[in-house]
Amino acid sequence: MTEDTDRLKRDAARAALEEVRDGMVLGLGTGSTVAHFLELLGAALADGDLTEVKGVPSSVRTGRESRAAGIPLVTLDDVQTLDLTVDGADEVSPELDLIKGMGGALLREKMVAQASRRFVVIADEGKAVERLGLRSPLPVEVVDWGWQVHARWLEARGADVRLRQKEDLPFRSDNGNFILDCVFPDGLPDPTGLAEDLRHRAGVVVTGLFLGMADRALLAGPDGVRSLERDR
Ligand code: A5P
Repeated sequence: MTEDTDRLKRDAARAALEEVRDGMVLGLGTGSTVAHFLELLGAALADGDLTEVKGVPSSVRTGRESRAAGIPLVTLDDVQTLDLTVDGADEVSPELDLIKGMGGALLREKMVAQASRRFVVIADEGKAVERLGLRSPLPVEVVDWGWQVHARWLEARGADVRLRQKEDLPFRSDNGNFILDCVFPDGLPDPTGLAEDLRHRAGVVVTGLFLGMADRALLAGPDGVRSLERDR
């Protein structure tokens, strides 16, 4: 990542902080962009600019980063409804549909976002795409037992499928599952149909398609932060 991209990520994170109010319970996403948000939120709490804010982390990593930043944490079981989730994305379409999960936290990220009244995405402009699947593989989280049957099913739908690896072993999510990274050479012509088909397959835990979920995307470019809003 270039220094410039990192600066843009921080700009997007700073813009999202403006949505946070005293007393809110926040869903805390995962990734390098969210890491900036956690630092900025922690600093605002330390300075007394924000008070009584708590967060539900969407990954072990975010839990660790949040504690380091001094953000009080609760679990989804403790709170059940959240005021606002702030998370990054791997792709953002003009309709605010997303691909997420390159950081491996897609299951908990989706659970936290679905439990939130509002979901704000933060990213650098480079994540904006005209069609989902053009820039990022689609992560699909599956149980390890029989994972190859899903790989073959996805290949039959035109994907080049790779079982995600870490240090020469299959990567495991925080929930112990495998992740299939699926490259669709021409992007995804029908993300809704694919998401629906995958939803009905036993053994598929969750996909990185976050469709119709985000309320706002804050996309930072060299000329400032562009805000995309969903019409409800
Ligand atoms: C984590 O599983 C992902 O969904 C991240 O939100 C996504 O990969 C964006 O990460 P960066 O902010 O590091 O690009």
